[in-house]
Amino acid sequence: MPSTVKNATLLFLGRTVVRAQALLGDPAARLLGLSPTRDPYPVYESVRRRGVLVKTRMGLYLTASHELSARVLRDPDFGPLRAGELSPVDTSVRLDGRRLVNPVEESFLVRHPPEHTRLRRLVAPWFTPRGLRAQVATVERVVEEYLDEVADRGTFDLVGDFAARVPIQVIADLLGVPGADHATFARWGRALVNALDGVRTMRDLRALQTALREFEEFLDDLIAHRRRRPGGDDIVSALVAHDDLSREDLIATTELLLVAGFETTVNLIGNSVLAVLAHPEVRARLLDDPAHADAVVEETLRHDPPVQYTVRVPFRTVELAGTRLPKGTPVMLMLAAANRDPAVFADPHRFDPDRADVREHLAFSSGIHYCLGAGLARMEGAAALRGLFRRFPDLRAAGRVHRRPSRVIRGAARFPVATGVTKEHPIGQTIS
Ligand code: HEM
Repeated sequence: MPSTVKNATLLFLGRTVVRAQALLGDPAARLLGLSPTRDPYPVYESVRRRGVLVKTRMGLYLTASHELSARVLRDPDFGPLRAGELSPVDTSVRLDGRRLVNPVEESFLVRHPPEHTRLRRLVAPWFTPRGLRAQVATVERVVEEYLDEVADRGTFDLVGDFAARVPIQVIADLLGVPGADHATFARWGRALVNALDGVRTMRDLRALQTALREFEEFLDDLIAHRRRRPGGDDIVSALVAHDDLSREDLIATTELLLVAGFETTVNLIGNSVLAVLAHPEVRARLLDDPAHADAVVEETLRHDPPVQYTVRVPFRTVELAGTRLPKGTPVMLMLAAANRDPAVFADPHRFDPDRADVREHLAFSSGIHYCLGAGLARMEGAAALRGLFRRFPDLRAAGRVHRRPSRVIRGAARFPVATGVTKEHPIGQTIS
């Protein structure tokens, strides 16, 4: 069978199985088959009601428990599942007989020690508190630049015109990517992030293949340029200086930083603005005290995190919550559900930036894969929120919020806002 026909058939069968299981009430199927425009939190609560560790017909275990999620994330007997392992489709692409690098399958995000440790250490210095302090001024400048661009428009798309552009510019500066083309990076990021949900259509597969090919060609050029002119203080220059780093590791690491750096932060900004618009008392406090932005961002990370879940598999047969899990059994850790676990957070569905224990959230994961960019994301989120409401204290929703077509990553794809006082549209409504 030609590979495209085979892939299309497998994708169709995969979708049909998920739909059939969902009709039978399988919680994993309900979650995976859930339209991204629907509110996932009731599904998380139904998983919580079923128990601490819930077995599904799809062979996957789910947990909404904060305690169990944190325990698995910190357990050296568990590690990440490489993307594509659950999918019947081989998502790897070849060009001239060569396999293209895929950061979701090859970067240190999914590697295990000692390789994970070695690769993470190479880029960690840019993300220390000292490294971050050096970036505060850049981030604030970028925020102001993009606000200047939309200042006279009256209405703009909060995501496309602002929230996505800030993190893309910041991470591109860190990597030393010249003349970062926002729209192209956004397209590559979208294709890769959509693949996190599992490639479901031929269109998804083609978008992923195109993005990977273009991304790799772009980075090959950049790396060659850095080799000709070494000594820069950016991340790519530093990676190029490591002779023992393979071309594939160099590309996968750079791609990981680019994608992890903006595909998540854009939603942190979008989700926190949604929260502020929905809570007038939070807006009033923010206008009165811009430093309150830190607490708003932290509570957004808990209440509506950009990364909703992650998966771990045991490296050997283990016992978890009284259940024997054979080696390789996938366990979905529902970070967004753990963040609303009533055993940890009082009145967990309420958005309350003043909660004392907010930092217990798992929005940035935990253990050795704890988000490397957590500090940068917090700083960018707070700078964006402060700048936005200082410039536009009357910011209003100016249309319906279009959700991103992803279940792993949660946020708005389009979010029209008006800068002055206009007729208010109900927020939180979504259309696909
Ligand atoms: C709100 C924004 C962000 C959120 C919610 C977020 C969330 C996460 C999560 C949940 C993980 C771990 C996934 C797992 O355990 O399976 C992770 C890992 C990672 N994140 Fe972030 N992230 C954000 C922003 C950033 C930024 C700005 C950067 C860098 C520029 C970044 C770089 C990374 C890297 C490199 C990893 C892999 C760490 C490792 O495997 O050791 N992230 N992030």
